Amino acid sequence: MLSVFKKLQSTPAFLNLKYRKTSFKFINNGEHDRSARCVPPSKTKKESVSLARQLQAKIKAMGPITVAEYMKEVLTNPVSGYYMHRDVIGETGDFITSPELGQLFGEMVAVWCFNEWQKMGSPIPLQLVEMGPGRGSLAEDVLRVFERFGAGNEVSLHLVEVSPRLSQIQAQKLCVKTVRPSKSSHTYYQLGTTATNIPVFWYNSIQDVPRQFSCYLAHEFFDALPIHKFQRTEAGWREVLIDIDPAAGSEKFRYVLSRTSTPASKTLIKADEKRDHVEVCAESGVILEHLATRLEEDGGFALFADYGHDGSKTDTFRGFRNHELHDALVDPGSADLTADVDFSYIRACTEDKLLTFGPVTQRHFLKQMGIDMRLQILLQNCGEKQKENLLLGYHMMVDEDKMGERFKLFSLFPSVLKDHLERFPVSGFADS
Ligand SMILES: C[S@@+](CC[C@H](N)C(=O)[O-])C[C@H]1O[C@@H](n2cnc3c(N)ncnc32)[C@H](O)[C@@H]1O
Repeated sequence: MLSVFKKLQSTPAFLNLKYRKTSFKFINNGEHDRSARCVPPSKTKKESVSLARQLQAKIKAMGPITVAEYMKEVLTNPVSGYYMHRDVIGETGDFITSPELGQLFGEMVAVWCFNEWQKMGSPIPLQLVEMGPGRGSLAEDVLRVFERFGAGNEVSLHLVEVSPRLSQIQAQKLCVKTVRPSKSSHTYYQLGTTATNIPVFWYNSIQDVPRQFSCYLAHEFFDALPIHKFQRTEAGWREVLIDIDPAAGSEKFRYVLSRTSTPASKTLIKADEKRDHVEVCAESGVILEHLATRLEEDGGFALFADYGHDGSKTDTFRGFRNHELHDALVDPGSADLTADVDFSYIRACTEDKLLTFGPVTQRHFLKQMGIDMRLQILLQNCGEKQKENLLLGYHMMVDEDKMGERFKLFSLFPSVLKDHLERFPVSGFADS
């Protein structure tokens, strides 16, 4: 398998791809799940107080809210949601992700996409679709590699992003020209062009992306989507809700259990569920069912990277602030909220239409994709400071005690490709 990538990676086009400047500073060893976190400019007290007040007003009017409602409001409330108006990723943000650690991650993903696309006969035009693109670094690396492989004219880039601030940062990174159409006759809200004339479109939702053959990418996207939490009790499954904590005045929130079953507890828990505590991301279920239909009817494939498990973990909902774990119910909007992705749920949502591969660890995937060979080539061609950055980023991504084991890769292909993929297995997912 590696020989394919050796071949792709040894082409003069790829070898000429030089070091991409990165700027990250590690201030811990990445022991927390969100990896190495950088010193964040904390959200101002005023903003988080106002979001807390809105949530409290809602709870007073309607009663306790689901964890999913809370998470959605805290992360993506248009006025004061955590992601909406700040650059939360990277040196000046709250956390660093693999694509921000240097070009190695994005290049391995790009080689994977290019190779799988070639195996399918390189259907054109190809839409590269990224959900939750953050600062746009992964998209930038993927486009650069596609261009080096001579496929720049065949691709367009489609970004699904709800954050106005991050979409602005993505545009600055990727495009020389960007416009926001005033009329609502388009499904995109922003359109740009890269320096090499590749069109880039922005959408609020995957449903708005044109239906065509596409390669879908999602890196640390599904973990940011709202989850429902359930607890098994003697009376049956009950949903974990969020209420105002009466003991702490009206300042704080607390978890309570629903008195009876809820619509979510009736519909989202598997009949044969063995765990006593379960988290289900129904919003990802909707996206995945839609994605499965697209892949089946329009063709394409998908690659997801996230931290997660295969249906075994229980209570993973947590907050992060200042590169530390943070109580998810304190100062809502001032910290990132996240929950591990349940890959068995992704499989269950898509298995009637798609073949799934993984999850495999990030270390396994990157090693199979030839990251070591690529590292050596880059090290031969850069200065001392760049070498130090490359090696730091490499170890963060692949070391078992950092992101190498915790982060997982998962891929999805239309079922019609079963025989084809048995003959030509999906790269990066084979047993080593
Ligand atoms: C944890 S960040 C990951 C960013 C980037 N993929 C990376 O790994 O560096 C989550 C990203 O998803 C976006 N996002 C969160 N919820 C979203 C939603 N419901 N629809 C679209 N984008 C969303 C955020 O604005 C952000 O760009």
